[in-house]
Amino acid sequence: MRVGVFVIACLALVAGSPAPAPAEYSESAAVQVIEETESFLAHPHYLDNDEIGALFGQLAKDYPQLAQAYKVGRSLQGRPLHALALNAPPANDKSGDLLRPMVKLVANIRGDETLGRQIVLYMAEYLASSYETDDQVQRLLNTTEIHFLPSCNPDGFALAQINP
Ligand SMILES: *[C@@H]1O[C@H](CO)[C@@H](O)[C@H](O)[C@H]1NC(C)=O
Repeated sequence: MRVGVFVIACLALVAGSPAPAPAEYSESAAVQVIEETESFLAHPHYLDNDEIGALFGQLAKDYPQLAQAYKVGRSLQGRPLHALALNAPPANDKSGDLLRPMVKLVANIRGDETLGRQIVLYMAEYLASSYETDDQVQRLLNTTEIHFLPSCNPDGFALAQINP
């Protein structure tokens, strides 16, 4: 997992748990949970904002013990700011351990800087889908709460697509 190099990442304390909001996704959404990162090289496709919401909703549905989809608000033009939280606290720690580190990965602060946005999505999907089979991922999510905010600036991203 050397994706951090590309990700505009910042460490932030997250105040409390994310307010659980109903995830916005539909079964018929044209988004597929990403399974093979190499496929992006052959068929580059940056998920748009709705697809990000659909992907996070799907991850929350597929990994209900690990993943929680929520929104941190809306952009100036009203686009939802999709976020995902991943963590797997031990069963005897339902109330939350105040000393457990919380990390937030944020990308796409400038609308046309899109690579970090896609990498944050891959990282979220990778960690969620590898938990069962990968000891290192298990240890990470057992001890750390990670929040993903792939796009701070969905309005800028939409503009960047229109004016290449
Ligand atoms: C992670 O936590 C689960 C549940 O508490 C436990 O069964 C598992 O062994 C832990 N994995 C690691 C690698 O510590």
